[in-house]
Amino acid sequence: MHYGADYYPEHWPEERWEEDARLMQAAGLNVVRMAEFAWTRMEPSEGAFNFGWLDRAIALLGRHGIRTVLGTPTAAPPAWIMAAHPDATLIREDGRPVTYGSRRNYCPNNADYRRHSARIVTAMAEHYSGNPLVIGWQIDNEFGGRCYCPVCQAAFQRWLQDRYGSLEALNAAWGTEFWSHIYSAWEQIPLPWAATGTHNPSLALNYRRFMSDSYVDYQRAQIDILRQICKDVPITHNMMGFGYPNLNYFDLARDLDWVSWDNYPRLRGEPDPAARALAHATMRGLKGKPFWVMEEQAGPTGGSTVALTPRPGEIPYWAWQAVAHGADGIVYFRWRTARFGAEEYWHGILDHHGIPGRRYDEVRSMGEVLERMGDRLDGSRVSASVAMVLSYDSRFAFQNQSHNPHLDYPRVFASLYRALWKRNIGVDIVPCVAELGRYRIVLAPMLYLLDADTAERFRSYVAQGGTLVMTCRSGVMDMDNVVVDTRLPGLLSALFGIEVEEYDSLEDGRAVAIKGVGPLQGPRGEGSAWADVLALQQAESLACYEGEYYASRPAITASRVGKGRAVYLGTLPDEALADAFLTALGARPEFSSLVRADSGLEVVERTADHASYLFLLNGTGDEKRADVGAGGHEWITDREVAGEMVVPPLGVRIVESPRG
Ligand code: GAL
Repeated sequence: MHYGADYYPEHWPEERWEEDARLMQAAGLNVVRMAEFAWTRMEPSEGAFNFGWLDRAIALLGRHGIRTVLGTPTAAPPAWIMAAHPDATLIREDGRPVTYGSRRNYCPNNADYRRHSARIVTAMAEHYSGNPLVIGWQIDNEFGGRCYCPVCQAAFQRWLQDRYGSLEALNAAWGTEFWSHIYSAWEQIPLPWAATGTHNPSLALNYRRFMSDSYVDYQRAQIDILRQICKDVPITHNMMGFGYPNLNYFDLARDLDWVSWDNYPRLRGEPDPAARALAHATMRGLKGKPFWVMEEQAGPTGGSTVALTPRPGEIPYWAWQAVAHGADGIVYFRWRTARFGAEEYWHGILDHHGIPGRRYDEVRSMGEVLERMGDRLDGSRVSASVAMVLSYDSRFAFQNQSHNPHLDYPRVFASLYRALWKRNIGVDIVPCVAELGRYRIVLAPMLYLLDADTAERFRSYVAQGGTLVMTCRSGVMDMDNVVVDTRLPGLLSALFGIEVEEYDSLEDGRAVAIKGVGPLQGPRGEGSAWADVLALQQAESLACYEGEYYASRPAITASRVGKGRAVYLGTLPDEALADAFLTALGARPEFSSLVRADSGLEVVERTADHASYLFLLNGTGDEKRADVGAGGHEWITDREVAGEMVVPPLGVRIVESPRG
């Protein structure tokens, strides 16, 4: 387990570094991430490199048992580069450049910026290759943002040429007939700049795909350099969880050795443990492997305003929740709060004065448990019997055509995840192309864009015994973002045994009453955001509407295909109905040793060959109880437990029981 902090030695007098390293070691920290914003310090002018300070910091930390992940510094371009290449500046949708200052202000397709990036990455790689204290690389920092500059436009046109081959094909696929947008030269194709109205949805979606690909490509250019020079040193990028909407993280993760992400539960408002769990599961799902939190909140966040200070116990509770969901590394942001710069109120483990306090003690208390546990959790994996299919194509398409504010793709996805999370059901987040056979239940909400291959794999998953749950606004579009010419849900109609006769966009927060029927007899609730009016072909109704002009028509349906079931939600059920619905599907947690847990207690299991680790996480303000049956060793309190145990508010318990 890696446990550490984001460290900026360049922000502090060198005489202080020894004390920092001593305090880190005393708190059980064994890793730092450094240098990801220190380009000018490393290269004050072109080709004049200065790594001495970083060498000394790495060596000094190494003497305290702390190893280093180095960040490539390209997220914050030096003033001297941007002054020499004003064209490298990111251009906004309105066609105007961002100003110098802040960060993420470069165009990822700009050749000059790429040349400068390659030079600093090569220099760092050559300088640190073979240094045993450098155990990993992070590329850039939180990729994102979209550029609308002429270089991006030309690159987009080439990207389209590769994808469509000919203008005839592109015009036909996009329906450019509409409003006379037929292109007769590639150079005519615009970016979706701020326009008088809506852009062609095919153009808008492809631009989003292209921009995501641009960062994947820019990242790959850095990875290629590092792999060639530093051979086996693993490479990551710090992503932004489920919430970040503008990059296809499955694509971005493909070239990386491991995924990491930045977790700020108290960024604004009250922390939401289900949202955290979804973010962790998404990050784990990108490579189907353990991940790191590269920035774990360690103090009040703040730019110009300052958010609430993490409550006593929250810092280790958040960090343990990440570990429960598959994190093999926790790195706190940041070691000590900066005294200057845009983030002087973004607090770290230590405050500005550098004197350890309550937050340091909490970090150290978790460090002690990790030290006690040693390498036990290594190689253990989170168990999940349910998968949710995340489609960035569909998500991007809805960004351009949101339908209505209540039908937000991430919101719908998160609300279904939450219903599973509340029942402590382990969920993997997977891409459309994932192998689904090992999951008992698969949910693929709002899979708006659908290709024949995915539809066929879904059919065979069901035929072989799986339970597939899909929702309204699925199978609506082909992969060019053009509406299919059959009744909805298009390629899925036969599998679900239904046809959508009409639909009703429930704008302004309207809801429609629904009640369970047949096998779901009993519960009543509400559907919101959208209502499909369904005609049954070979399906039975599980719930029907009780209001609107479609009262008594099916709202939720199920069809049997082969050995499995295909269940369709024509509307978005409220929490109570979703819960009843999951019961009817037989969705239940599958823990080896848990007998019972109070509602509100989050339970997650990591299993290794030799043992399983049951994490009991209490994110509430009340005591919670769980019956852990035969139990085993509990690592937080370091004692044997069995039967009923109490978990205090913001408390965590980790029960190890042997397997086999
Ligand atoms: C992250 C970012 C860090 C730092 C932190 C606090 O999003 O990666 O560099 O800015 O937020 O704002």
